[in-house]
Order: sequence, then C-alpha cells, then structure tokens
Amino acid sequence: MAKAFKERVIYQIYPASFKDSNNDGWGDINGIISKLDYLKDLGVGILWLSPVYESPMDDMGYDISNYYKINPRFGTMEDFDNLIVEAKKRDILIVMDLVINHTSTKCEWFKEAIKGNPKYQDYYIIKEGKGNKAPNNWDSAFTGSAWEKIENSNKYFLRLFCDTQADLNYHNENVILEVEGIIKFWLDKGVYGFRCDVINSIYKTSLENDNPLKLYNKGTKFYQNQEGMFNVLKRFRNDVLSHYDTFLVGETGAITPKIGTRLINENCLDMFFEFDHIYADKSKILPIFRHKFSAKKLVSALFKRQLEVPYIANYLENHDQLRSVNRYGNVDKYYNESAKLLATLLLSLKGTPFIYQGEEIGSLNYKEISINETNDIAAKMTFTTIKKILRISDKKARKLVNETINRDHARAPMQRNSNQNGGFNDGNITWLKVNELYKEINVAKEENDENSILNFYKKVIKFRNESDVLKFGDFLEGKASNSLNYFYRRYKNKCYMIVLNFSPKKIKFNTPLDIKLLISNYKINDFKYLDPYFAGIFEVL
Ligand code: GLC
Ligand code: CA
Repeated sequence: MAKAFKERVIYQIYPASFKDSNNDGWGDINGIISKLDYLKDLGVGILWLSPVYESPMDDMGYDISNYYKINPRFGTMEDFDNLIVEAKKRDILIVMDLVINHTSTKCEWFKEAIKGNPKYQDYYIIKEGKGNKAPNNWDSAFTGSAWEKIENSNKYFLRLFCDTQADLNYHNENVILEVEGIIKFWLDKGVYGFRCDVINSIYKTSLENDNPLKLYNKGTKFYQNQEGMFNVLKRFRNDVLSHYDTFLVGETGAITPKIGTRLINENCLDMFFEFDHIYADKSKILPIFRHKFSAKKLVSALFKRQLEVPYIANYLENHDQLRSVNRYGNVDKYYNESAKLLATLLLSLKGTPFIYQGEEIGSLNYKEISINETNDIAAKMTFTTIKKILRISDKKARKLVNETINRDHARAPMQRNSNQNGGFNDGNITWLKVNELYKEINVAKEENDENSILNFYKKVIKFRNESDVLKFGDFLEGKASNSLNYFYRRYKNKCYMIVLNFSPKKIKFNTPLDIKLLISNYKINDFKYLDPYFAGIFEVL
C-alpha cells in the first residue's frame, strides 16, 4: 500500500480562524473537532494544524514558548488528545507544525541562556556587537536588522524573523537532542507527521557579512541549504522518525531542483514546498512590488518542479500568501470559473495537494484593511520600514503592503454562513476582522448550490481520491501559456490530459488525440473552443 501522505489530500487549518467554539473570539481545538464531519465530507484525509503550542503569539504561534504545552487560547492537552481520537474515527490524520529554527524569547531555554546558565548558553546564536553595531549586516525576513541587543550588555542574539523569535544553534548537540525529544513526544501521542517551518535555514554555517551593496542583505547564502542542514535532518530521521510511520514536509524557500532532489533522495524530507511559482505576480528581488500576473510564469514554474524533483508538495495558498483567486484568477468577471480552474490545477498535478482553509469556498482578500486593524507582524514591520526607506505616505505604504504581503488576508475568520461574524462564532468579538464578503462567500451558501466552488472541490477531490492516475501517475509536460495550458498524467495504460484556459477569452482548441471529458467547470460537449477559464480533465482514449 502506498503511504498515506502520497495518497491523501492535505488540508491546512489556521487554528485561530477556523472555528471558535466558546465565543472568545479565537478559533480553538474544539471548534476543529466540531467541523471534522465537514472535512471528511470535503474528502481530505490529513489535517495540518498551524502551531497550537504555548506561545505569546507575536508571530501567531510561530514563536513557541513551550513545545510540550497547548496554547490555552486553543484549548487543553485533553482537547488535543480528543482531536486525535475523533479524527482517527473518521480516518483523518493530524500533522503538526514543527517550528524549530527559532523559539520565542519567552521559552525557558532562552531565559536560561540569557541568565548565563551554562547548559543553555549555547542553545542560541549570541554574539558580541561590533563597537555599538550588530555582529553583522544581515536583515530579518520581516525587514530591519536580524540581530536584537540583549539589555545591559553589548551582546546580540540572532533572530531571522521578529524581535522575539531567537534562532537556535544547530552546532549544539543538545539542541538536536531537544528537538528529537519534541518530535518523539508528539509522535507518541498519535500525530502522523510534521510540516517543518523554514527548515532549510536552520543551520548557520558562518556569520559573515552579506554583500553590503545589496539593498536587502538577508545573508541567506550563509544559512540556506547548508551541508549542516542535511546532517541535522538525517539525525532526526535515523534517531527518531525511522521508528514510526510518519512523514516530513519542509517549508523551503529558495530551493534549487538539485537541493530538493537531495533532500528527498537522502531521506531528509518526504516532500517540500517550493516558492518559485509564487513570483508569478510579484518581484522576486523586492516582493513588496506587485506586477501583472503571468499564467505562463505560474504554470511553467509548477511544470518545472514536476519534472525536476522526485516528489513535491503542491499548493497555491497558505497562511502566508494572499488568496489565490485574487492573485491568479479573475474576481470581477469569472470568479466562479477561475476558482474552479485553480482547483483543477492544484488537484491534478503530481505530488501531494495542500488546500488551505477557505480556499475550497473561493475566499478572497479583504477589500480594505488598515494598519490598525492588521495583526500580522511581518506586515507591520514592513510598513514601518518601507515608509522610512522609500519615503512614502502612510497611504502608499499601506497599499503596497496590502497588495503583496499582508498575511491577514488569508487569516480572516473562516466564513461559514451569513450570520454575524460569518458563523465563525456566535459571540461579539473576533481576533481579526471578518472579511467584508462573508454574506456572499460562505460554506452554508455553497453547500446549497450545486454549481458552487465548494461542490466543485468536493467533486475533484473525490475524483482524485479514486484515481490512481492522479495519485500515482507520471507527469508529462504539455504547454504553459497565458491562455491555453495542458499537461498529461499517465499510469499503467491510462492517460489523462488536463486542459486549462487561463484567460478571459474563448480560445480555439485543436488536438489530434481522441479524448473524452471526465470533469470540467463548464457543461459542454464540444471542445473546438474553450470558454473563458475553462478547466477540464480528459481521458486520452
Ligand atoms: C514560516 C511561517 C510563517 C512564519 C515564519 C517564521 O514562513 O510559515 O508564518 O512567520 O516561518 O516562523
Ligand atoms: Ca475560542
């Protein structure tokens, strides 16, 4: 039997926004349990939970203060155990987020390190400043220096993200052992696997200055994809993971096909998320600048990875990305069709598909979100930085941030019905404002509409779950363009052709092949022309 992670569709839950069971404004574990039947019905077989550990929530749980505790906002350890049991009853597996590049500065290890406790001193990357400057010129991924000064000293600690996310030191054997303990603890609880946060940055080979001529000196060449990372991941595999039926999916920015292939072939990760395709509508060098979406860019980047690495995790959305229909679809004229096209693309590629909560109902970005209403730390830090560096007005800075990086667009409470707060809860407050469109876009409405995006997702997921061609077939490249796109999947003696019209125009379609339509977003039987945003899966006879 194939492994579960190769056969099932994975669904990402952002716990703060999925379902609030006690009306305190925050989504919670009991809320997730109450929606397991919905998820089962959707057809997903694995749930990845963004972090639910104890955390001050400066970066929404990606700043963990205790890896062995559940954040009280989300519930108790008992609730979590109950989630595993209830999910198992429905044959659903639970995946945790493993955030081990850094801990919160509220973590006991960090507090002890600062106090000078010899056991913990070397857990983090702490260095003397150079005169009254930071140890090197690296910038944080969220802008600003990557170093934070420790009070009453000339020492700094490295933090590649926000000022309370201290990077761990993987040159220290004890750090590796701590993480192995954490992995074992959750696997013994019945967790199926882990999504590993910024995993290809964990090993810092050197702390040299980055090229000072660059505008943005992240220093990535000294810590991304290092030999030391391969070694640490091999340790996790040999010491712990190999004793369980489990898997790891890595979040790996700036990954080359060569490194990706090594990660899989050397059994460091089972799959990974690549980032090339997300630059189809924004600048790679300065991602704050949006440019015109190119379907050709998006599809060719996806094709490239299909061909170049042995196995891949496919996604169009997650909690860090803006909504895909806004980015790659056509909200004004072909909202329904283009959302379904994206569903067809995601679910018919080779590899494991990841759906992000709300994607299955075609959720959209906020129309308006001010900086005061914004919670996302990265958006707030970037707002301050670009205002200063680019010398632009609040209005302009907010526009840039909201168009490309404000992660709150995807973090809005899940829209479940047209009641107050979109049915996310029955209370008066929500931790983040509800999207303006909740009355038009919500689960209840779509459940009752045969032609809805949600029902289309259900149909395609079911089709995939039952199709060896989509689950296990080879990928054969066809064509990537700003209008007609196609590719093939082949398994044993069966072959499917996936056809997507990524344009608002009706286009000509000629194929010498004898094909039969299996699924599509239009009810048609003539394929000489493809309607705007047409998407279909055909069998090649
Ligand atoms: C990853 C997470 C993101 C977080 C960052 C730091 O990119 O997906 O949400 O802010 O790592 O942990
Ligand atoms: Ca709650």
